[in-house]
Amino acid sequence: MTKYVGVLTAGGDSPGLNAALRGAGKAALGRFGMQVIGFRDGFRGLMENRTVRLDETALSGILTLGGTILGTSRDKPHRMPIGNSVLDMTELIVDNYCKHHLDVLVCMGGGGTQKNAYHLLQHGLNIVTLPKTIDNDLAMTDVTFGFDTALGIATEAIDRLHSTAHSHHRIIVVEIMGHKTGWLALGSGIAGGADVILIPEIPYDIEKVAEAILQRSRGGKRFSIVAVAEGAISNDQVELVDSAESPSGNPDNAAAKKHKKTIASEGNGLDRGANGGILHLARRLEELTSLESRITMLGHLQRGGAPSATDRLLATRLGTACAALIDQGVYGVMVAARGEGVDVVPLKDVVGKRKTVPLDHPWIESARSVGTSLGD
Ligand code: F6P
Repeated sequence: MTKYVGVLTAGGDSPGLNAALRGAGKAALGRFGMQVIGFRDGFRGLMENRTVRLDETALSGILTLGGTILGTSRDKPHRMPIGNSVLDMTELIVDNYCKHHLDVLVCMGGGGTQKNAYHLLQHGLNIVTLPKTIDNDLAMTDVTFGFDTALGIATEAIDRLHSTAHSHHRIIVVEIMGHKTGWLALGSGIAGGADVILIPEIPYDIEKVAEAILQRSRGGKRFSIVAVAEGAISNDQVELVDSAESPSGNPDNAAAKKHKKTIASEGNGLDRGANGGILHLARRLEELTSLESRITMLGHLQRGGAPSATDRLLATRLGTACAALIDQGVYGVMVAARGEGVDVVPLKDVVGKRKTVPLDHPWIESARSVGTSLGD
């Protein structure tokens, strides 16, 4: 019996999505004789029944393309903005799944997508997910596709910042994505030779950051690159968070609570965090070191463009494995990367978890060993 496979991409786009669509789609069509239908713009397209037939022609020539040919959105099935309201559209989504006689829905995405997919699993849909995000923060998989490409882009940016920081004897503070984890900042910071790397997992002390820069300056190196994860926070901010959280803390501290919420949701971003983000950080470092400073936000450049060879390989490996699992009728799982192979992880073990950088991770040890300050 021919199997009918629906597929969507959701959350922030990520290099490697098209490679994964191609891998899953080509294996499903060619190897297993399935029919594949794509839904546009994530869960919204499934709700609105906006489809695209993924046949050989549609899947051709997309391996090297960035973004996602299906489009994406951050819309959630159970909290979908419709006009001025936010509605639970789960029922309509389930109806559309049934209308297309789907045997399974493949959802490619990060933490939010895994949660939304699990929600649909609990409403009776057969689901298989793939781990995609430049943040590399999904639990139960060695790595996510998109991360390697973003790592390369951020590393190249740090490389380029070196020559200009060096020429002008400046501090350059560069903000790197990663949501609430430091994988991207730490990886690119080490690979690009940043002098200071600040990540959410290690709250920083601004005085110690300044001291590390001054030490370099005293040694004749009058420039420094500070790689800051967008979610990085200082010790002061942690204290603020703690005081807002503590039941014995000032209960009327509404500002602290608001600040805590801002930090938790926005991290260190330039014009977002109540702390003033990297602009504030750069200004403080200028005051403390008397060195001129500049800021750079890499932003969405980190997500754009063609996937690296490593991401193409990973996405193809996971995509093709996904088709094989569907052929075997294995549902309710995420297809995870494990070593050179794949692992099948129940979706319930993935959702609601975030893979942060462990404090004893070898990258942290390596960074410290080459004299990089982590701001602690
Ligand atoms: O999750 C990927 C990511 O790029 C994060 O690193 C970043 O915090 C977020 O998405 C940005 O989201 P958006 O593109 O919706 O602004």
